[in-house]
Amino acid sequence: MATKKSNTIKLKFDSARNLAPAPESKSAAKIDPQYELFINGKFEKPSGKKYFASINPATEEKLSMIAEANDADVNKAVKAARAAYENVWKKMPGAERAKYIYRIARMIQERAREFAIIETLDGGKPIRESRDFDVPTAANHFFYYAGWADKLEYAFPNRHTSPLGVAGQIIPWNFPLLMAAWKIAPALACGNTVVIKPAENTSLTALKLAEIIQEADLPAGVVNIITGAGATGAAIVNHPDVNKIAFTGSTEVGKIIQRAIAGTNKKATLELGGKAANIIFDDAPIDQAVEGVINGIFFNQGHVCCAGSRLYVQESVFKEVVRKLKDRLESLIVGDPMDKNTDIGAINSKEQLNIINNYIKIGQQEGAEMYQSSASLPKRGFYCRPTIFTNVAQSNRIAQEEIFGPVLAIQSFRTDDEVIEKANNTPYGLSAGVWTDKGSKIFNMTTKLRAGVVWANTFNKFDPTSPFGGYKESGYGREGGVHGLAAYVNIV
Ligand code: NAI
Ligand code: MG
Repeated sequence: MATKKSNTIKLKFDSARNLAPAPESKSAAKIDPQYELFINGKFEKPSGKKYFASINPATEEKLSMIAEANDADVNKAVKAARAAYENVWKKMPGAERAKYIYRIARMIQERAREFAIIETLDGGKPIRESRDFDVPTAANHFFYYAGWADKLEYAFPNRHTSPLGVAGQIIPWNFPLLMAAWKIAPALACGNTVVIKPAENTSLTALKLAEIIQEADLPAGVVNIITGAGATGAAIVNHPDVNKIAFTGSTEVGKIIQRAIAGTNKKATLELGGKAANIIFDDAPIDQAVEGVINGIFFNQGHVCCAGSRLYVQESVFKEVVRKLKDRLESLIVGDPMDKNTDIGAINSKEQLNIINNYIKIGQQEGAEMYQSSASLPKRGFYCRPTIFTNVAQSNRIAQEEIFGPVLAIQSFRTDDEVIEKANNTPYGLSAGVWTDKGSKIFNMTTKLRAGVVWANTFNKFDPTSPFGGYKESGYGREGGVHGLAAYVNIV
């Protein structure tokens, strides 16, 4: 019996891995050899005349050269945003602002395929993810916040709201277009103007968005999109005429930003790292839970701040869950992100791959037991096999620190109180997942877990109407939903 069973599984894996290639075509997307800064409605050369390369992490090929904005360029962008704010945007009725935001949403939808291809080429995530998640969800955020622009009085009943002014926004490389949408859409709906900087590894879809914003005839200076690395981001943070900073990225840079704005009048929302716990109780639908755990950590190569990177399994089902996870791991297809069958694409950069590989080494040194899938990896590009660790101690670094890669640390537990204590025992508190058949257990967990989002019998579900944000070192402020509006208005 045993032999027969493993043969069946092996056959299934082989057939999954041997699917004929189904690559998306690159030709549907136009990438220019060089991109400029989008300031005051026009594309402008950087005053320092410096450019840096953006590469495809799946092949290590250069895709384009990107302008590097220096302090003078940042100043120009902030000035343009200030002028647009004072002269046009803050005076415009909400219903008129809504038309522009709505138009941007429509144009993203019309060019969805192009956006998905560029997102995948520039960032390494599977085309299935960019096509089915990133791009449609980005459009949905613009649609959703367009709807609020003329209804702010209903979002904050009996209160008076006014916009903050110029918002400086800095975003990471894991969801480039989607993070731009999360930041720009609520800011515009509330009457603010924007200077936004994408991450240096993944600037292309933000620059494509600049093209759309130009075509949408958004008044010049309302949205300025400038590119560059940490120094450009710091220049935005430190500019005296910026009223609000919205940042998503590492806890390390979040702390630098917090120090930089201390004592100023700048408001801030910070969305930082995470170390989410997925918790499987013995009464959970096990197969569904296993699929949710796989999706929660291996989705997007684990480059997700709310990734379910820790797993707690109740003792009586521990062996079963681990066995099923290993089986499922073996069937995941790792490789060319442009292939529609690929489950796990390329790691975003060489630096990030080094960070992940280092943690895999640390996990082994700490005495945890490692299991990796046997998938073969492409010769060029940055790839990592999906990896799970058992025999993990709560104090191990792989159970405490954000790895931001396809690496899962698994522990067992006996009682509800024990797992609540373990799940809460990290510096982070962004998200968590609970798998159980019992509604009362779900309510008990959601009230006691110190996490901004707790998913029940699902994971990594996003919707523009739902707020998102963290506790503790995962940051503060909420994005999404009505709560996301509060981050862009003064309320009196
Ligand atoms: P990072 O925090 O350095 O980069 C995020 C953004 O901040 C980028 O646009 C970057 O140019 C900008 N930036 C960097 N230094 C800055 C400064 N001093 N002032 C203003 N802006 C600055 O993240 P990095 O180095 O790319 O990744 C390191 C680790 O951070 C990852 O391994 C992961 O653990 C975590 N991370 C978390 C993210 C999240 O979604 N919460 C996203 C990206 C990374
Ligand atoms: Mg960095």
